[in-house]
Amino acid sequence: MIAPPAQPGRFIALEGGEGVGKSTQLKMLSAALRARGMAVVTTREPGGTPGAEQIRAMLLDTAGDGWGPRAEALLFAAARADHVDRLIRPALLRGEWVLTDRFLDSSRAYQGGGSGLDDGDILALHAIGSAGLLPDRTVLLECDPAQAAARLALRDHGQNDRIGGRDTAYHARVAAAFRRFANADPQRFAIIDAGGTPDAVHARVLSALADL
Ligand code: TMP
Repeated sequence: MIAPPAQPGRFIALEGGEGVGKSTQLKMLSAALRARGMAVVTTREPGGTPGAEQIRAMLLDTAGDGWGPRAEALLFAAARADHVDRLIRPALLRGEWVLTDRFLDSSRAYQGGGSGLDDGDILALHAIGSAGLLPDRTVLLECDPAQAAARLALRDHGQNDRIGGRDTAYHARVAAAFRRFANADPQRFAIIDAGGTPDAVHARVLSALADL
């Protein structure tokens, strides 16, 4: 029999709107943890497993008519169920740290805050799909919309995916929803100012995880 790890792994999600620098911070954080000798798995949503990456393509490709908010929420929850079952939980059980670029709170903010679905319904889908797994810490990166737009222009050269390309009013509702969820659960969330250099933001992220 294989003995369980002395310490269970930690599950960290980076969240926020488009262009706040989540992927850059995820890379910097994983490098910092690995330098401390920790086993780290980095992943993203939607995606992270072959099945969830297929669902990602269905959700984000701009071809076709897309999905209504309810179908969209179900597809995100299905992708997440596969991701949790096949990648996240097994890694945590091995005692590894899992860092994900987006998780449940993106569904709550985009399909809930942005598209108007009820938060209780999205949490119910998460209970069914993923047994309600929550991160040990959710790092919410927030920055000024003009700075985010400039970062996105550099990254995407004006090519948005289906959801990123929604109007500014939609993205403002998403940002407000993220802030509401973070304020309602200060134990799980850390709100980080994502303005300034990547190194400055990285230092803030590390201090938000110091107790873990
Ligand atoms: P990104 O990984 O490049 O940020 O793209 C993912 C897009 O999908 C982004 O616009 C946010 C959106 N999204 C949702 O609407 N709901 C979700 O649950 C997740 C994980 C992402």
